[in-house]
Amino acid sequence: MSLPKAELHLHIEGTLEPELAFELAARNGVELPYADTDSLRTAYQFEDLQSFLNLYYELMAVLRTERDFEDLANAYLARAAAQGVRHAEIFFDPQAHLARGVEMGTVVEGLWRALGSSARNHGVSTQLIMCFLRDESAESALETLDAAKPYLDRIVGVGLDSAEVGHPPVKFREVYEAAAALGLRRVAHAGEEGPPEYIVEALDVLGVERIDHGLRCVESPELVARLVRDRVPLTLCPLSNVRLRTVDVLGDHPLPAMLDAGLMCTVNSDDPAYFGGYAGDNFEAVQQALGLSEERLRELARNSFLASFLEHDEELRARYLAEVDAYEF
Ligand code: ADE
Ligand code: ZN
Repeated sequence: MSLPKAELHLHIEGTLEPELAFELAARNGVELPYADTDSLRTAYQFEDLQSFLNLYYELMAVLRTERDFEDLANAYLARAAAQGVRHAEIFFDPQAHLARGVEMGTVVEGLWRALGSSARNHGVSTQLIMCFLRDESAESALETLDAAKPYLDRIVGVGLDSAEVGHPPVKFREVYEAAAALGLRRVAHAGEEGPPEYIVEALDVLGVERIDHGLRCVESPELVARLVRDRVPLTLCPLSNVRLRTVDVLGDHPLPAMLDAGLMCTVNSDDPAYFGGYAGDNFEAVQQALGLSEERLRELARNSFLASFLEHDEELRARYLAEVDAYEF
């Protein structure tokens, strides 16, 4: 839990706990179709990615003002700090907010009110990654990138999320080229529910530097060999995989085999309010279910800082890595 770590796969909208959802609903006069937090929690039984996404998008209705996004991010950062997170690269889904009439500026400025003071207030350095919804059109993604142009000093990169199957990375070739030309870093969800070919496409067509999830690479020995050779980081989310039923039980998770194969794995929380745990909870869960050694846990923590977008501050990265090396279990 207290092992220093970076969180590289975290959707800020997925940190909306039921209590805060009801608080924001009351503040904004939004009616939620659930009587209370307990009955909302009973809806957290997911069949697959889409059944989760339905609830995830539904609950976003309570996020309306800059203050809402600030409160959401501050709540996450406080929890993350308590679980050993020193650095967080945070996804957000602007299209889900723009579609509800919430402007890009409201989202980015609101999040920034928390992120801009996070190092001071929470001891967590932060970066922001803007995701495109892959079940929306490529034109919509291009418009979203355009809408983000006034805020690019606050956004380190772009990502690709939402319903994966049927929406291959190639659909977003143009917007990723435009993002690269703007100097943005590139990541994409691939191989969560989608096939290994989507991982290859994300690398070859979108030019991504990290793969979010990437779990299904294990089905292709050729792809595994490439990912090992090129040290492509994978941002795995073990508790998410169990809750979205890509893995039956945590004890069956391929993480140990992936580490043994030499893959550059990291452990993250994805949507912690929905999947039963934050970053430290994910570390504890894999340690218990998979019996990872202390050296494996240290490797996962080192990988998280090595894979993070800290090139603008190598001194900070070195400090974090030294903390991991000095950590006593
Ligand atoms: N949006 C939020 N969480 C997601 C996930 N695990 N996969 C795809 N899109 C998401
Ligand atoms: Zn995700």
